[in-house]
Amino acid sequence: MDFYSPFSPIYRDKQVRLDKNSAKLKIEICGTLKGLEMIMAEKTPRKVLITGASRGIGRACALAFARQGDRLYLAARNTEKLAEVAAESLQAGAADVQCIPADLADEGARKACADTTGPLDILVNNAGAIRGGGLFDISMDDWRESWELKVFGYLHMCQLYGALMKQQKSGIIVNIIGLAGRDLRPDYICGSAGNAALIAFTQALGAELQKDNIRVFGINPSATETDRVKSLYRQRAESRFGDPDRWEEMLDTNSLPFGRLKRPEEVASLAALCCSDSVQYLSGTVIDMDGGARWM
Ligand SMILES: NC(=O)c1ccc[n+]([C@@H]2O[C@H](COP(=O)([O-])OP(=O)(O)OC[C@H]3O[C@@H](n4cnc5c(N)ncnc54)[C@H](OP(=O)(O)O)[C@@H]3O)[C@@H](O)[C@H]2O)c1
Repeated sequence: MDFYSPFSPIYRDKQVRLDKNSAKLKIEICGTLKGLEMIMAEKTPRKVLITGASRGIGRACALAFARQGDRLYLAARNTEKLAEVAAESLQAGAADVQCIPADLADEGARKACADTTGPLDILVNNAGAIRGGGLFDISMDDWRESWELKVFGYLHMCQLYGALMKQQKSGIIVNIIGLAGRDLRPDYICGSAGNAALIAFTQALGAELQKDNIRVFGINPSATETDRVKSLYRQRAESRFGDPDRWEEMLDTNSLPFGRLKRPEEVASLAALCCSDSVQYLSGTVIDMDGGARWM
C-alpha cells in the first residue's frame, strides 16, 4: 500500500485494496481527517466585536471567542480595563485584539466604531447599564440615558453593521438582552420595557436578515454574577448590615436555580456556541437563560 499524507487530497481519492485491519485504520484516519477539517474550518479567525467588553458578561464573551482563535475588537469606556481584557484574550488564543475606547451611548462614537472595524463576522451587543427603580423613581433624563446606550445603541449598531453584513452576504448579530424583558418587573421598569423592545426587535430583525445570510439572535440572562449585580447586592447589604462586604448574605441561594447565581462564563459559552456554523438555523429567536427560575 502506498503511503499518502492524510492531508493530501490524493489520499481520499486513491482506491487501494485493504485487508480488514487496514480498512479499519483507513476509516479511523478518514474520521480524524474529517475532524481536522472541521476544526480547521472552525478555526479560521472571524472578526468579532464585543461591546461592554471591559468586565462582566462582555469580558467573558471576549475570552470565549478568544479561545476559538478569533480576531477581536473590544469596546467600552474604561481604557485600562479594556487593555487587561485584551491581554487576557491574547493569552487565551485570540488571533488579534484591538481595543476601541468609546462611549457607545453616543451616536457619533458608534459610527466611529463601525469606521474603525469595518465589516464584521460577528457583532455582540452587550454594553448596557439601565437604571433600576419604579416609574416614579426614574427621571425622564435617566430613561433617555439608559435607553440611549442599551436600546437605541443596540438598534443603531445593528443598523450600522447589518448594512455592512448585507454587502458581504454573511454575518451574525448577538444581542445580550435580559430576562426582565419577559419576566416583567415594576421595580426595574426601565429595564423591563427596554429589554422587551429589544426582544421584539431581535425577533423581527432575524426574520428580515436571514435572506441576506445574516443570523440575529438574543440571549436573556437572569441574574448573573457580575459587578452590576454585585453592586446591587452590596447596596442592599450596606443598608441591612452597614457592611457591603456581606453582600452574599443577601442572596437567598435556596430561591436560585442550582443554588447559585449564574456565572458570566455560562452566558458567554452559550453566545459562542450559538455562533457556530453547526447551528446555522438559529435566528430570529431570543434564548431565556434563567435556569428555570421563572417557573419555580
Ligand atoms: N448581570 C446580570 O445579572 C444581567 C442580567 C440580565 C441582563 N444583563 C445585561 O447583560 C449586559 C452586560 O451586563 P453585565 O452584568 O456584564 O454588566 P457590567 O458588569 O456592569 O458591565 C457592563 C459593560 O458595559 C460597558 N459600558 C457601560 N456603559 C457604557 C457606555 N456608555 N459605552 C460603552 N460601554 C459601556 C462597561 O464598561 P465601561 O464602564 O468600561 O464603559 C462594561 O464593560 C448588559 O446589557 C446587561 O443589561 C445582565
